[in-house]
Order: sequence, then structure tokens, then C-alpha cells
Amino acid sequence: MLSERFLTELAEKNDIEQVISSYVTLKRQGRLRKGLCPFHSEKTASFTVYPESQSYYCFGCHNGGDVITFIKNIENLGYIDAVKFLCLRCGMQFPEDEDDTFSIQRRRILELNRTAAKYYHSILRSPEGKKGLDYLKARGLTPSAMVKFGLGYAPDDWDSTEKHLLDSGFSPEELDSCGIFKKGKKGGRYDVFRGRVIFPIIDLRGNVIGFGGRAIESERVKYLNSPDTPVFKKSRNLFAMQIAKASKQEQLILCEGYMDVISLHQAGFDNAVASLGTALTPEQARLMSQYVSKVILAYDGDSAGRNAAKRAINLFDALGVKVMVLELSGAKDPDEYIKKYGADRFRLLCEGAVSALDFEIGRIKQKYDTDTDEGKVSFLKEYCELMSGVNNGIEREIYTTKTAREMGVDKTTLTSQIDKKIKRRTSAKNNGKTITSKQLRQQMDSFGNDMLTKTQSLIIGAAFKNPDYTRHARGMEEYFTSDSARRIYESITRRAVNGEACTLTAIMSELGAEDSALLSEIVARQSELRCTPEEFRDLCERQKQDKLQKSTDDIKEMSEGQLKDYIAQLSDKKMGGS
Ligand code: CTP
Ligand code: MN
Repeated sequence: MLSERFLTELAEKNDIEQVISSYVTLKRQGRLRKGLCPFHSEKTASFTVYPESQSYYCFGCHNGGDVITFIKNIENLGYIDAVKFLCLRCGMQFPEDEDDTFSIQRRRILELNRTAAKYYHSILRSPEGKKGLDYLKARGLTPSAMVKFGLGYAPDDWDSTEKHLLDSGFSPEELDSCGIFKKGKKGGRYDVFRGRVIFPIIDLRGNVIGFGGRAIESERVKYLNSPDTPVFKKSRNLFAMQIAKASKQEQLILCEGYMDVISLHQAGFDNAVASLGTALTPEQARLMSQYVSKVILAYDGDSAGRNAAKRAINLFDALGVKVMVLELSGAKDPDEYIKKYGADRFRLLCEGAVSALDFEIGRIKQKYDTDTDEGKVSFLKEYCELMSGVNNGIEREIYTTKTAREMGVDKTTLTSQIDKKIKRRTSAKNNGKTITSKQLRQQMDSFGNDMLTKTQSLIIGAAFKNPDYTRHARGMEEYFTSDSARRIYESITRRAVNGEACTLTAIMSELGAEDSALLSEIVARQSELRCTPEEFRDLCERQKQDKLQKSTDDIKEMSEGQLKDYIAQLSDKKMGGS
């Protein structure tokens, strides 16, 4: 994968205005440049270039993006070839041949990590590591699993690891950038993993890129993980992917924890992986999608796990990866399940895994008491909303027959509700396909082109320009009404927290095509936006209110009469049926 550092430099050296000027005659219009769109035929210029955000967008055909997107589209190239094209244009080296001080430093840190991993592993097998070994044995791990995953134990003192690495020839600077150590008050280094069982994190090429450390005593923080370092990006790697990528299975099993993965591998499931102490990221999902077209989600059954599963489903959906969800009844996670019921039952569970759609329906059902009329109405409202997003008519038909029977309602009523919602969606989508300038202006105001409200678009536009604002709006991602918008917002937030660049090129390099298109549209529409932190907070508040309001509205959406009829109908059915 191309580094963001590289992509940022590439974008800097290929100014979008200059690049596009060699294809399109651009006219200056304040901060913007306008021209006739090269991607569709038009007489008035709706193709706009935004030097400030280094992006372009056509209000006529909705083509938009950064300089790489432009080259991709105009030269008809794939992403990598578009990047190479731009490299040639500005005389940059394509990273295959990159060999600068940065990569020398990276190589040293990788060597250091390998040395540390070997050291931790040797400690585990020495008397000093007895505590760690006893712990792993008590958790049911076999010696061969410990070797396979290179597990270790970090000595429970402050400086043994430091001493070992210095003695092995690594420099103090190298120790400071590898992520294993922190500095104490008096400036001395200490091993952050001391007294913990060590899980080395290994990349696809077999490099040790970081560590996870599990506490043995329950009162300590359960897991610590390496911070991001020059060789480690949490958001880009998956635990055990280096093993799972060689599996013969045609799907991957995605778990939440290190121990789940190791347990599964030990039980013969060599296709299990886990994200690294964070929710699944778009990059991780994309990495998985390069190997398989089907994923089994084996997340914990608690509500945190179910929410995480919902997110993962959305990410995979955007990539066209089919998702099945495991219902782990009787155990809190895959590790516990295997221990309690054995590998064969886990295999059966995988075979009978429910589709993501079943999972979603189950999730909604759990929210309401469907034994009551109100609960039924609320459930069915959400059910119709969910189904209106399902493209396959046969799938809708099958589920709706089942649900109508289960809820004791008339299937035709349900189907017509869903159809109504579908119509509303498509008419919203089709708005402005053939565009007059008047319509264009209307569209700019009403945001009719997609389902995103103006407030949400303003929030993303403002966050993109001022990533630091997102620090003051924690949890805001929950309040977006579109998954695309949420993913974009999350990416901006993460970048702000990690102090990473928040350029269009960087964000688009990790998001799917749909998200990228939305982001470039927002950047185009909000190019004039200037917003203070206070205004940003107000916008967020407004959106939170809107979203809450909307869920209530959803239930109230039917007219009074319709609602009464509907409830009456539900009661009739129930009485008739019993
Ligand atoms: N995690 C973390 N920090 C924590 C808790 C968890 O980084 N304080 C991460 C770890 O990567 C962990 C994953 O989240 O593997 C899932 O957490 P949990 O379900 O608690 O982990 P398990 O691997 O099941 O841990 P165990 O069985 O050892 O309790
Ligand atoms: Mn566990």
C-alpha cells in the first residue's frame, strides 16, 4: 500500500489546477476555476476546480475528486497507474525503489522488534517467565501454538529489555522510536509491556511490526498495544493475517481479540484474524477484501460486539464483501465457545451463520418488545426502512413473507410500505439528473442529490477544513444518517487524533469509491464555508437533535388515521390468530 507521506508529496507536486489546465480551459472565478466538463457534454461550465482543497467537482455529472481521481478518469487508468502517471509528470520516484533514510530507519526498527520478540519468547521459556507460561497454559494454549504465534513474556522489571536491546547494538534513538519504551519522570526508559504476556504483531511479509501485551493480574489494564510507529499502523494491519492469507478456506473469520484468534487457529481454523484493539477500519476491511469475498463475523455477543458488527457489516457492504454473522449463544467470545463446545460445534456454527440481513433484523427486533402493539409498529417501521435499502427484490420478498407471518400482519401492507419508501429514495436520488441552472441552484440549497442533509454536509465540510474541531465533538459519528458520511467523519476524527494529514488525497486513499465521491461533492459544495469552533459545536448539536427527532418522527410518520388503522389491524390479526 502506498504511504500517505508519499501520496501527500505527490499531490503537492502535482497542483490540480495546473494538471487540469492541460486538459480543460479554466476561467478564474474568485477562489474557483471553472470550465466545460471533460466528462460529459455541456454548454455552460459546471465543472469546477478548487485550488484550496486541491479538488474538482462537476455539478452536472457529479464527477469529482482529487488530482489522482482526475487523471484516473481522464486517462482511463487504474489507481496505481494514475499515480505512476503523476510520478512521471513531476519526476518523483514510484515507491518500489524508495530507499531513503526513512526506509533505513524502518529497517532498523523492524530488526529491533524482531530481536525484542525473540527475547520475550526466550524469557517465556526460562524460569523468569514462569508466570507467563503458567498463564498461557491455564488458558489452554499448547506449546506449539505459543511457538507458532511467537508468544512471549516481558520481564517484570524496568530495564532488562532496554539492556538487552542496547547490548544487541541498537541505539538509544532507535529504542525511543520503536514504541516499546516510555520515559519515566527522571528520564529513564522503561518497558511498557513489563510483566505482561506478549503477542507479537506480524505483517504480511513476516516483519514484527508491533506488540500487544496482556496483563496477568486482573486489576491491571487488560491489554496494551504498541502505539503507531514508523513501521506500525494499527489501522492498516490485522492480527494473524500473515497466516490466514495462506489458508485454503474461501472466507476469513474476523474476531475481536488476540486470544480468540489463537484459540481458533489452535482448533484448526487457520483463517481467523482480528483487528488490533480498535474497531475495524476501512483499510483493514479493504485488505481483507483483497483476499476473500466472504467474511464470517465472530464478534462478542454483547451490545458493544453487536454494534461493532454492524459497523463492520457496513464497511464490507461498501466493498461488496458478503458477510455472515455468528450467533455465539452460551459463550461470550469465540475463545470461550471453542473451549466450552469444541471445534466441531464451532464449525457447525459457521456453516449455519446467519446473513448480515438476518442479523440486522435481529438487532432491530431486540430494540422493541414485539409482543406489544407499539413495539410491533416500531419494529415494522424500522424493518421497512431497512428493507427499502435492499436491492434484490427476491430477497425482499422472502424476508417480508417471513416477517409478516411472524408479526401477524398482512404481507401486502408491509410490501406497499416498503415500496413507498423505495420510491421516496429513488426520487430523491434521481433529482437533478437532467439539470437546468435553476435546478442546479435549488440542488445546491436543498442537497437533493443524495440523502445527506445540509447540516451533516456542513459538519463534514467544516471538519475537513478544521480537523481539530472534531476533538470537541466526541461521539458525533453516531449521529450521521448515512454510513458514508459516518465513515468520512470517522476518518477525519482519527486523523485529527493521530496528528495525520487531513488532505482529500489521504482520506480518499483509505475510503471506497462511494465515500470518496460523497466527500469530493461535500468539499465542492462547502468550499466557501468558514466556521468557528462555536459554530461547529452548534451544528453538531443541531444534528444530534435532528437525529433524535427523526427517530421519533419515524414512528409518527404515518398520518394519525393511518396509524390508528394500522394498530387496529395489528390487534385484529392477533385476536383472529389466537
Ligand atoms: N483490547 C485492548 N485494550 C483493552 C481491552 C481489549 O486493546 N483494554 C483489544 C485487544 O486487542 C483484545 C481485543 O480488544 O484482544 C478484544 O478484547 P477482549 O474481548 O477483552 O479480548 P480477548 O482477546 O477476548 O481477551 P481475553 O480473552 O484475554 O480476556
Ligand atoms: Mn476472551
